[in-house]
Amino acid sequence: MVYLDFLQLLETSLPAGRLALVRTAGQIALEEGVSLYLVGGAVRDLLLGRPTEDLDLVVEGDAESLASIIAKRLSGQVVSRSQFSTAKIKVDGVSLDLITARSEHYSRPGALPQIAHGNMEDDLARRDFSINSMAFPLHTGAKGQLLDPFDGQADLQRGLIRVLHDKIFVDDATRIMRAVRYEQRLGFRLEDDTETLLRRDLPMLDTISGDRLRRELQLWLKEERCVEIFVRGDQLGVTGAIHPSLAGSGEVIKKATNPVGAGFKPALWEGTRSLDEYVYLGLLAYAMDTLEGERLIGRLRMPPRWAAVVRDTIALKHKLPRLSDASLSPSQLYEALAPSSTAAVQACALAAPSGEARRNLTLFLEKLRHIKPVLGGKDLIELGVPQGPDIGEMLARLRSARLDGAVTSRSEEVALMKSWLAAQ
Ligand code: CTP
Repeated sequence: MVYLDFLQLLETSLPAGRLALVRTAGQIALEEGVSLYLVGGAVRDLLLGRPTEDLDLVVEGDAESLASIIAKRLSGQVVSRSQFSTAKIKVDGVSLDLITARSEHYSRPGALPQIAHGNMEDDLARRDFSINSMAFPLHTGAKGQLLDPFDGQADLQRGLIRVLHDKIFVDDATRIMRAVRYEQRLGFRLEDDTETLLRRDLPMLDTISGDRLRRELQLWLKEERCVEIFVRGDQLGVTGAIHPSLAGSGEVIKKATNPVGAGFKPALWEGTRSLDEYVYLGLLAYAMDTLEGERLIGRLRMPPRWAAVVRDTIALKHKLPRLSDASLSPSQLYEALAPSSTAAVQACALAAPSGEARRNLTLFLEKLRHIKPVLGGKDLIELGVPQGPDIGEMLARLRSARLDGAVTSRSEEVALMKSWLAAQ
């Protein structure tokens, strides 16, 4: 691949603002006498003709000082730095990440790597898969050629995820989850030896901290092909190796998102290819009992919002028989469901075995939860309700009246309030 081809790709693929920034950064690097490369995911995605999110640049030299020079020249800002010689610059709302080229050494499985400054070849060799280990020089003008020491272009063409060496997953087992994510995102397959190594190294996931595991799991949950990722994760034994409570979760999500013969698909699905990450999390939790849910919350060190989705989904699942009753009034339904996180209700609406439960939960999600009285706290005070907890209680009663159709207008709400006050 020669520079002109790649330059063409850059020019046709990158929006004007980002392109201008990349070109200027290359020009400044040339003037400063430092080598600057576009690397990793951006090169992979450009070659695949896919939209690219982050632009990562690697500097053979000091990333922070080059970032300062670029930012100054373009009247932009260096918005963050870190202890690993990386800097983010922002110019007119467009950002670039600059990293000092480095080599990495893993002292033990799962530990964060020890880092030393290195050259571009070292920097490519510290990476995970061949398709992520290509770099394109921005400082060499028309002579530049793509650096591709691990034959990433050939693997892009063959549709293969291939590790750089046989300790890739031992060094950092989060790469097991990355491999599955890329494979399904790109519609690729694991190269045979890579699959063997991945299966061999599944126990290495135990060396990964809860925070890192959760971040990788979140990346799965955010992918458009989330369902396929979990299904493949089951097939490779990855889900169960992340945590025993997740074994088989691909099948659970798949079944819930393709309800066979239910004849009823909640509007939650309409117009979307994939669901919100928290709804997928709820679907994972749906298959668990309380103890398994608590163990997963602990292992992944879940923050409160995650933990609430897991706990609420499991609790709601146990209430489903009661929520299947067609004679429940709207206000009873509201009271039963409003305290749960919305994602938990959405997950149960998809996964519930009974059509009546699904209908009731969907009625809550689509209609009931949005119903409020017209009168507000101030109106109630004007009508003579004393300030304090009574206000909240009265508003809740008014909401129930609205939900059950006892009042349908402002004047009816006022009349009802007056009758309650008179009765007190
Ligand atoms: N990398 C790695 N091992 C990891 C994480 C990252 O080797 N556990 C390397 C990969 O070579 C990757 C680069 O660091 O290309 C940057 O990581 P990241 O931003 O996560 O990857 P992208 O390729 O940009 O992925 P995505 O498209 O998912 O953002």
